[in-house]
Amino acid sequence: MKLLSRKASCNSHGQDSSYFAGWEEYEKNPYDEVKNPQGIIQMGLAENQLSFDLHESWLAQNPDATGFKRNEESIFRELALFQDYHGLPAFKNALVEFMAEIRGNKVSFNSNNLILTAGATSANETLMFCLANPGEAFLLPTPYYPGFDRDLKWRTGVEIVPIQCTSSNGFRITESALEEAYQQAQNRNLEVKGVLVTNPSNPLGISLSRHELNLLLSFIAAKGIHLISDEIYSGTVFNSKGFVSIMEVLMNKKYVNSPVWDRVHMVYSLSKDLGLPGFRVGAIYSNDKMVVDAATKMSSFGLVSSQTQYLLSAMLSDKKFTKNYVIENRKRLKQRHAMLIRGLKNAGIPCLESNAGLFCWVDMGHLLSSKTFEAEMELWKKIVYQVGLNISPGSSCHCVEPGWFRMCFANMSEQTLDLAMQRIKSFADSISDSNNISRNQQHSNKNSRRKSFSKWIFRLSFHDRETER
Ligand SMILES: Cc1ncc(COP(=O)(O)O)c(C=O)c1O
Repeated sequence: MKLLSRKASCNSHGQDSSYFAGWEEYEKNPYDEVKNPQGIIQMGLAENQLSFDLHESWLAQNPDATGFKRNEESIFRELALFQDYHGLPAFKNALVEFMAEIRGNKVSFNSNNLILTAGATSANETLMFCLANPGEAFLLPTPYYPGFDRDLKWRTGVEIVPIQCTSSNGFRITESALEEAYQQAQNRNLEVKGVLVTNPSNPLGISLSRHELNLLLSFIAAKGIHLISDEIYSGTVFNSKGFVSIMEVLMNKKYVNSPVWDRVHMVYSLSKDLGLPGFRVGAIYSNDKMVVDAATKMSSFGLVSSQTQYLLSAMLSDKKFTKNYVIENRKRLKQRHAMLIRGLKNAGIPCLESNAGLFCWVDMGHLLSSKTFEAEMELWKKIVYQVGLNISPGSSCHCVEPGWFRMCFANMSEQTLDLAMQRIKSFADSISDSNNISRNQQHSNKNSRRKSFSKWIFRLSFHDRETER
């Protein structure tokens, strides 16, 4: 142990949470319709597998992109040789145009302000390295994506201070919650360097309102700090009244060239919207030249390979493909989301009303044996081992209220989701049956107690009357 660094031997990776433990349990006993029909269904993984047929038909029609060819001439050598850390200009241009398209072309992006990274994981960590020193803090609204405990903190030494949001207002960010978190950080002697939000939110599946976005900009303006908006789910918004990017709000003339202009940074990735987490394509977008320069240099540690950039620049420059993909993928997500909501409703389980993401934020408070996080863990274990569903407990997302769970719906077939809903329904029914039985038992115990009480009163009064005589 002594031969290793403190970083390698310490346990601050953030991976020892029920969020990751659930994945391990799933790996040991994964559901398969034929080979393991009793296995665990993975509902703890925010993957988008609904539109692979669209990619595949594009690939079949565009063999040059995968065959390392341009106009039928091989470009293998060009791609295989040294790549500098600025990324392929053709890919960066295609990516910024795709980002604008997802935002309804209400915002445009300059590819000189874009840094390519190996996924949003790397983008978020790189921003931490650029904006904060070890021991300084970022404020994050709860509940938040459990991976942030690893991505933002582990190698950078940055601290996370929670902005506590609750179900009382649908987990919306308020001014008082922001101020309280800031105060909390000061009480812990932590210098606050910024706020990081996910918009749309993982795990809530809701997008931030204009009011919240303006609140955040006023807050960072007043405190002289940064704002990071992780917009990895921006293309998953399936409800038309929906998503406003922080970059759109920043275009308002009161912010253009104001001090906050350079202090707002956006994170993006193709892991969710395009469903390609294995390709490791992410990006940082910033108006601060020094951040762009530093992050570009840091991106050497996690570059996107040339062949991936080449393939995706061809795919994303095909406007007919992207337009159809964005519309069709949203339609499919909307259908899946509706299917999950219907299944849960049928089981008597409510959810937070949502408009985006690959998951729902589900309220199972009524199935807890008590309103505690111990009871939440107890329920989670039953759902993993007895019901056979891996879902993510709210406590792993730092939710302050026990009983909430994140359930993913886009990483499986319709049949598997249907089976998952049958499993959760029979579980919820069995709990309410046993609650009814124990309530009836309590009732009949109460009745028999009441009977014996009244018998006792009767006997007593009878006895009194007898003695009176
Ligand atoms: C909010 C958020 N940010 C970042 C990531 C990491 O994404 P990537 O696969 O692009 O590294 C995830 C993945 O689930 C996420 O939900």
